[in-house]
Amino acid sequence: MQFAQRLQPLQSNVFADMDRAKASALAAGRQLIDLSLGSSDLPTEAHVLEAIAKSLYDRSTHGYLLFYGTQAFRQAAADCYEQKFGIKVNSETEVLPLIGSQEGTAHLPLALLNPGDFALLLDPGYPSHAGGVYLASGQIYPMPLLAENGFLPVFADIPAAVVAQSRMMVLSYPHNPTAAIAPLSFFQEAVAFCQQHNIVLVHDFPYVDLVFEETRGVGNSFSQSHSLVPSILQADPEKSVSIEFFTLSKSYNMGGFRIGYAIGNAELIKALRQIKAAVDFNQYRGILHGAIAALTGSQAGVTNTVATFRQRRDAFVNALHRIGWQVPIPQATMYIWAKLPSPWQQNSVEFCTQLVKKTGVAASPGAGFGKSGEGYVRFALVHEPHLLETAVEKIAEFL
Ligand SMILES: Cc1ncc(COP(=O)(O)O)c(C=O)c1O
Repeated sequence: MQFAQRLQPLQSNVFADMDRAKASALAAGRQLIDLSLGSSDLPTEAHVLEAIAKSLYDRSTHGYLLFYGTQAFRQAAADCYEQKFGIKVNSETEVLPLIGSQEGTAHLPLALLNPGDFALLLDPGYPSHAGGVYLASGQIYPMPLLAENGFLPVFADIPAAVVAQSRMMVLSYPHNPTAAIAPLSFFQEAVAFCQQHNIVLVHDFPYVDLVFEETRGVGNSFSQSHSLVPSILQADPEKSVSIEFFTLSKSYNMGGFRIGYAIGNAELIKALRQIKAAVDFNQYRGILHGAIAALTGSQAGVTNTVATFRQRRDAFVNALHRIGWQVPIPQATMYIWAKLPSPWQQNSVEFCTQLVKKTGVAASPGAGFGKSGEGYVRFALVHEPHLLETAVEKIAEFL
C-alpha cells in the first residue's frame, strides 16, 4: 500500500515511545504515577452532567445537529467574552462550536495554507498545532522560546523570506508546556506584526482560567477584564486578523466530552466552518446543553479547580526544591516545566524512558514539544498532593 507523504511526520512521535515505556513499566509490576498527560482527574460539575443526562432522553437531540451548533451555545460563548474581557462578539458570525479545540486548531490550516506556505509555531508547543500544518502540506517555522525571554518568541528573529511566505502564526498563553503567561503588550506586538505582514493570528487559549491569583497585575492590565490573563481579542478588538480557541476541557474538567469553540474574525470563522462542513456534523446537542450549563451556571467549580491545581503546584514544587531540583513556580496552567539536571540535560527522552521504567513515574520529555524543548521535562499535576510527593521521592532515588 502507498500512503501520502503527509503521513510521515505524523508517524514519529515521542509520546508513542513514552506510551510503550509506560506499558512495559506496568507489565513489570510497577505502580504507575502518570504525570505525562494533561488530562484532568477532577470531576465534571453535577449541574453540567444533569444537563447532558436530561438531553439523552430528549428525542429532539438525537438527530444531526446542523447550522453550526445551536444559537444558545454560540450566545453563551459570546456572553462569556463580553463578561470576561469586555469584548462584544456577534454570536451569528464570530463564534463556531468545535468538537474540542484541538479539532479546530488542527483543521484551520486547511483553510489558510497552500502547499509550502509557512506557519509560525511556538517551539516548544502543543503537538497538534504542528499536526494541522502537516495535514495541510504547509511548512513549519518554529519560533524558539527561551527562558531568558520569558518563553515568548522574538518576532524580529524570523527571517524576512519566511515572513513573506507565512500565512498564519499560532500563539498559546498561558502556555503548554512552559506554563509561561503573556502580557497584553506582547499580544499587541503580535497583532501589529501580523497586520503588517498579512498573517492570520491564531491564539489557542485552553488555560485562560487556570491562572493563580498572584498573577494579578502581571497578565492583564485591561480594566474592563475579569480575567487574570488577556485574550488576543483585547489586543485586536476589531478582530482584524485574529481567531481564538477556547475549550471546556480544562476550566470545566470536560476533556472527554469534546467541546470547545472558535471566536474571532468572521471571515476566519466562516472559512473554518466550510472546512468542518466537509468533515463533521458538529458535537452532539446534549453535550452543547452541558457546555451551556457550564458557561452560564455557577463558576464555583472553576474556582475550586484553580485552588486544587495551585495546592498541587505548591506541594510538587516544594518537594522538588527539598530534593535540590530548583524549578520556577508557574503562575498558570497545570504543568511544571523543569530544566533537567546533568547528565540528562540533552536527553529528555532517555530521562523519561528510564524514569518510568525504574520508578513508574511518567513525565513528558521536553523534546516531544519541539527542538527547543530539549533539556526540559513536563510534569502534569493530575494527581493528589500525596501522590505528587511520592513521585518526587521516587525521582530523588532515581537521580
Ligand atoms: C495548548 C492546548 N491546546 C489544546 C488542547 C486540547 O484541548 P481540547 O480538549 O479542547 O481538544 C490542549 C490539551 O492539553 C492544550 O494543552
